[in-house]
Amino acid sequence: QQDSRLESISSAIRVIPDFPKPGIMFQDITTLLLDTKAFKDTIDLFVERYRDKNISVVAGIEARGFIFGPPIALAIGAKFVPMRKPNKLPGEVISEEYSLEYGTDKMEMHVGAVQPGDRALIIDDLIATGGTLGAAIKLLERVGVHVVECACVIELPELKVQP
Ligand code: PRP
Repeated sequence: QQDSRLESISSAIRVIPDFPKPGIMFQDITTLLLDTKAFKDTIDLFVERYRDKNISVVAGIEARGFIFGPPIALAIGAKFVPMRKPNKLPGEVISEEYSLEYGTDKMEMHVGAVQPGDRALIIDDLIATGGTLGAAIKLLERVGVHVVECACVIELPELKVQP
């Protein structure tokens, strides 16, 4: 049985056609943030799922994983680690390249932010191809972190996840 909160969360997300390019239906979560009940329900649903899973780190993907990740981290007593676009972090970083529709991108994390044996939950607003989350998983696993799960607010089911 589907949680009754999901419908109001879904309707609080605005869909803008042809942004940023023709043919793209942009999922705008800024309207969800304006709806205090739906925003809280979103965080609560994640907290209910992850509070007893012994998660020590919530890794948030830039940019919108920085909105949903920290309240979840605080509620479940985990540290928050930002997974950033290249050349944003001031300290020593490790990075992971991944492919986009055209070209490649890179994700970076501070060395020392996580330790081998940490148990991670990765948070983003949306999964499309899964390339972004795949890079985050690789980055964390390279430094000995166990990735328990990835969680997003929105799934675009018409797009297949990369192997
Ligand atoms: C969007 C979204 C995810 C990613 C998902 O970010 O917020 O991070 O794309 O796509 P994928 O599953 O195909 O990898 P975007 O590239 O728009 O970057 P931004 O959050 O910095 O705007």
